[in-house]
Amino acid sequence: MVLARTAASKRCSNPSEMPRPCPKGVSPRQADRMLDAGAEVLTLGNHSFDRREICAYLDDCPYILRPANLHPSLPGRGFGVFETKIGQVGVVNLLGRCNLDFRPDNPFRVIDKVLKELDGLPVLLDFHAEATSEKLAMAYYLDGKISAQWGTHTHVQTADEQILPKGTGYLTDLGMTGPVHSVIGVKPEQSIANFRGELTSRYETAPGPCMLAGAVFTIDAKTGRCTAAERVALRD
Ligand SMILES: [Fe+2]
Repeated sequence: MVLARTAASKRCSNPSEMPRPCPKGVSPRQADRMLDAGAEVLTLGNHSFDRREICAYLDDCPYILRPANLHPSLPGRGFGVFETKIGQVGVVNLLGRCNLDFRPDNPFRVIDKVLKELDGLPVLLDFHAEATSEKLAMAYYLDGKISAQWGTHTHVQTADEQILPKGTGYLTDLGMTGPVHSVIGVKPEQSIANFRGELTSRYETAPGPCMLAGAVFTIDAKTGRCTAAERVALRD
């Protein structure tokens, strides 16, 4: 038997008591806040279009990039030229293909075309990818052709900052800016439940102290070569 209920009776919980979900991707408001805080350029990855409201923003704002090897019909742009203290610098965002099922074009082919368009400018590349091998292979492919490449996506900072033989700065993964006591940002108990095969609620951002992870690459303005590569990891 199915009992008819009024619309009001279908609500089983008070929305104000619902946990805050942990949506993926970036919203226009969040992007604006990061740019207002001093970010020069934002780069994205496999969650670029998870929030559809970002699409118009990607078309309108020149300071945010989505992977260049996604289909050209998608909103936004994958690389840009930005004014800096050392003059114009090209910034590129690419998406890896190992264990990331988004069917991007081959990043090793796409970067050739992008570098032709950037025409000899110093270039910085954010390669958003899962596999360390793919990131390293890209770095050696581009060694001497770009100023620096770093990886993102794994949320765990690697300890391999270096300058490659022909002068390109490199770090396999910058790591995460987010809650320290978390599984890549999510409450650990939810991630554990997921891996145990249990029903899980929508992921929520873990509470507690936060960290900021990244890297600083020093570039020689005359040669475009990297002269220093440093990891950054700050905790509350
Ligand atoms: Fe990612």
